[in-house]
Amino acid sequence: MSDTVSRRSALRLMGGAIAVATAATGGLMPPAHAEARPEAGAGPRVEGLIAKLTLDEKISLLHGATDPASLGQAGYVPGVPRLGIPPLRLTDGPAGVRVTAHATALPAPVLLASAFDPSLARRYGQVVGREGRALGQDVLLSPMVNLIRTPYAGRNFETFSEDPLLASRLVAAEIEGIQGEHLIATVKHYAMNNQEQNRMSIDVRVDEQTMHEIELPGFEAAIDAGTGAVMGAYNKVNGTFACENKTLLTDILRDRWGFEGWVMTDWFAAHSTVAALTAGLDMEMPDGTYFGTALKTAVQNGGVAERYVDRAVRRILAVMDRFGLLDGSIPPRPARDAAAGAAVALEVAKAGATLLRNEHRTLPLARGGSVAVIGPTGSLPFVSGGGSAHVVPDHADSPLDAIKSRAGKVTYALGEDLFGKAIPASAFSPAFASEGQQVGAGKAWSYDGTLTVPDADEWTFVLHFSSPPTARPKVLLDGTELFPQAAGYGEYFSGGLVSTAPDGLSVRRKTLTLAKGTHTLAIRAQAGASGLLFRLRGITGATRAQDVAEAVRAAQVARDVVLFAYEDATEGLDRSTLALPGHQERLIEAVTAANPRTTVVLNTSSSTSMPWLGRTGAVLQMYYPGQEGAAATAAVLYGECDPGGRLTQSFPVDDHHHPVADNPLRYPGVDGTEEYSEGIHVGYRWYDAQGVRPLFPFGHGLSYTTFAYDHLRACRTRRGLEVSFDVRNTGRRTGVAVPQVYVGRSPDLRLDQAVRVLGGFERLTLRAGERRRVTVEVAARTLSSWDPKRHDRVLGTGRRTVWVGASSHDLRLRASVEVGK
Ligand code: BGC
Repeated sequence: MSDTVSRRSALRLMGGAIAVATAATGGLMPPAHAEARPEAGAGPRVEGLIAKLTLDEKISLLHGATDPASLGQAGYVPGVPRLGIPPLRLTDGPAGVRVTAHATALPAPVLLASAFDPSLARRYGQVVGREGRALGQDVLLSPMVNLIRTPYAGRNFETFSEDPLLASRLVAAEIEGIQGEHLIATVKHYAMNNQEQNRMSIDVRVDEQTMHEIELPGFEAAIDAGTGAVMGAYNKVNGTFACENKTLLTDILRDRWGFEGWVMTDWFAAHSTVAALTAGLDMEMPDGTYFGTALKTAVQNGGVAERYVDRAVRRILAVMDRFGLLDGSIPPRPARDAAAGAAVALEVAKAGATLLRNEHRTLPLARGGSVAVIGPTGSLPFVSGGGSAHVVPDHADSPLDAIKSRAGKVTYALGEDLFGKAIPASAFSPAFASEGQQVGAGKAWSYDGTLTVPDADEWTFVLHFSSPPTARPKVLLDGTELFPQAAGYGEYFSGGLVSTAPDGLSVRRKTLTLAKGTHTLAIRAQAGASGLLFRLRGITGATRAQDVAEAVRAAQVARDVVLFAYEDATEGLDRSTLALPGHQERLIEAVTAANPRTTVVLNTSSSTSMPWLGRTGAVLQMYYPGQEGAAATAAVLYGECDPGGRLTQSFPVDDHHHPVADNPLRYPGVDGTEEYSEGIHVGYRWYDAQGVRPLFPFGHGLSYTTFAYDHLRACRTRRGLEVSFDVRNTGRRTGVAVPQVYVGRSPDLRLDQAVRVLGGFERLTLRAGERRRVTVEVAARTLSSWDPKRHDRVLGTGRRTVWVGASSHDLRLRASVEVGK
């Protein structure tokens, strides 16, 4: 709870900053008195309620409030008991139900997406849907379908892909799964919320064709799948905040797509009352800054017609009615089925496991062999990323234990220290309990002394503390505070792994170079009502060298090495580099030099640069694999299942070769504005257009077997294209193939077009020697481009090339087909 409260206050503070920014930049505000679109009545029950609701009651339905019986979920909207309208509880999020109670921590959505399997996305949705209802929730703040546009974006793990077709298929299936369990889904964040840096103020300048071909298809697919709600994004789009952007909220969402549900803000993303309501926003979350008293006043003094209030109420009640929340016909809340949740979590983690490299038959590992397991996330399971995708898991096992149950001899070495080592007591004068200083409830505690270091060295000080971040002890070294409160998000979104010690204490770090000798140290602690426990630990160049040396020794004596590397991402923060954080690159270099049969398992959010790649035996991309991650990882390592995943995003070679590299206007923006000047060339479309080789292309992922593709046939149908071909397992074991169909440009269109786009895909499991004929339908929409002059799609006629491949670069078959009108 305290986390929820503090995140809210942080966001509120930022809301203030943003209001100033808006006034300064101005924006293309919709006219305050734009006509309300005539809405079809929502049925007699809803219309009857609207007739009976007072203005205060209507307004109470249009904004969040404090939940008198909260389970720690993100939001709450009170009901109107006198009319039988129940309250709504709204919970995150994309990787499972985020409340204070335990829930199934599913693998990150990017891992789900890697399975290229909409039916699995449906089952993932069913788990969250059932659990959400079981845990007292009515609305799920998920799925997120913003496209992966920049490899630095902090939420790339929370969403699906850089490809709109793949994202569309998955979002639709997941929503069907969620809502099939009677939980209302909320597709988010509408729209162009493709980065975290300045997410609450950045003005995204994007042209119509790019918007409609790249970011919007996922949202449209969610609408078509019947999502009950849409969450507006924080950022601006072409000068106007998304949550008061009439083009997005009315022209596209309502008039073009026919959406009949309601639009809520992201948390503290509202910026106005009348402009937002008339532009098409229906609900402000999580409070009523703009849609509370301010709205009532606006209605009363004629600033906005009450029919706009009715329109928003109608949209909310219509969804509640559709879900049986108004007449009590919604099925009773089910019990949680933790075992079923765990089974799906395991299946998804195995299905999405993406084997990027496998040389010299490094994988699968042989049972009973000797293995060195190295890396902090080898023993401490890395379950989920930070922010609203963080879930309190039912349980999470250690990958080390999962490997031990399969290997003969296992040695573990930390390799990279996340939480620090005890600083020798003799270094402090006077001594204090640096490994566990207790401060009684309400008491103050202070220390004034020195820290003496034997040599000049790089130090990382690590503070572990039990209080909320705002009440952590102040530690001053040579007069400088080591762990000051970070500005804005830095404090409140700090990752799913590194910000919490294994025993649950919060963690903050500071790295600096210390000169040999004595340094003054002052600590000021003030305990809250439940007291305070803290530790002050250190990582030095010397302890790092010892950790690496221990890892090297373990690698030398084992037949195989499994090295777990991490990168901890969270909402609210972007990465500044694609390199692994800390000293992990050096660790990998040292370990692979000691034993080339090293498999690097990546528990990372998104793409990583891998200057060390060529020295490894294998690389297995597991992202944040959820609570069953250990079992899934071990199962793949030991070949109990085929690594079934494929990359849903291109992995760049380095920080200088990707679509937004070295172009600050493109990313992260300059003076508050960002231009999507790559246009439609997002992800693999950009690599193809520029002729730049990625480190690993979109769609890439190895199997433990091999596949051959032949007999391609492509023909025109009324709905688009029908592409069929044979896939044969040419290896000696059962494996998963994910053939992908790509379509080339139309010679007849005078619009910018990608070299090729994904037209369809199939995931199939084939036994050794088995052959199967696969048919993939390519929809007419995929053969079309968005024409900004006509504000509509136009079919790309003429001779089009069709490829079938194992990735966007591994194209095995090619044909062409005439696309007539
Ligand atoms: C996030 C949303 C989330 C909301 C509620 C915001 O910070 O952007 O995705 O649903 O918080 O927790």
